[in-house]
Amino acid sequence: MSRTKVTIPYLMEKKAKKEQITMITGYDYPMALLEEKAGIDIILCGDSLGMTVYGFDGTLPVTMDMMIVHSAAVKRGAPNAFVIGDMPFLSYQVSPQEAVRNAGRFMKEANVDCIKLEGGAVMAETVRAIVNAGIPVMGHLGLTPQSTSALGGFKAQGRSAEAACRIIEDAAALEAAGVCSILLEAIPPEVARIITESSKVPIISIGAGIHCDGQLLIVHDMLGFFDRFVPKFVKKYANMNGVILEALLQYKAEVEQGVFPGKEHCYGMPAEELGKLNNMLKG
Ligand code: KIV
Repeated sequence: MSRTKVTIPYLMEKKAKKEQITMITGYDYPMALLEEKAGIDIILCGDSLGMTVYGFDGTLPVTMDMMIVHSAAVKRGAPNAFVIGDMPFLSYQVSPQEAVRNAGRFMKEANVDCIKLEGGAVMAETVRAIVNAGIPVMGHLGLTPQSTSALGGFKAQGRSAEAACRIIEDAAALEAAGVCSILLEAIPPEVARIITESSKVPIISIGAGIHCDGQLLIVHDMLGFFDRFVPKFVKKYANMNGVILEALLQYKAEVEQGVFPGKEHCYGMPAEELGKLNNMLKG
């Protein structure tokens, strides 16, 4: 069933009406098809795919080429969701010009609706340059995975008054620079509430509590499809690892026992043709 295309005005309207915005990550076509079918508003093709899909320890090795291929597949599976391409490490930090060029690649080659980048006031000039090129930008504050080394690991942020104040100021700087939305990761709900109530753009939480305008989870986490590292804020809605492992074990056993393939999985040959073949082979 098709639905109306999710746009920035639609998301703004949801914030105004206090209707929760749903957001989830997606990295490939089959998952995007399901996310579209479920009516999810926003799909983030996140650089978390470095961990969930490629098996790296973090997101730093992810390249623009990887992100373009995956974002384009997501967009093909979910043409009506608001699809966001995540700018990978070093695709926007070197200069605003390089950032515009790479953000433009997401639009030209993957046809996404928006890009996301990490960082606050220090990124304001870069955000402005990308927005001036006509490309919508989502900001990302709090636990920013591309800076985990500087942050001392995958740790909650903004838990002291000073740190909370910095995040609140960063959010204001991003909004002034023209972002269409801000993602808050792993910060106290009280801090997220202050930002949500004072900003005009939708504020999305991943581990930032209930007071935001919407919620994001990493699809592999919530489906129980990635358990190498599960943050505190994840709720598991399924156990895909268990389901898939059971299917693989059953397949292996049936092949080994000669149970699969059954007759119903084979292409039949008319008896007459089979007789002819046998005669041909004999003669
Ligand atoms: O890459 C990603 O999926 C993200 C989330 C961790 C917020 O940026």
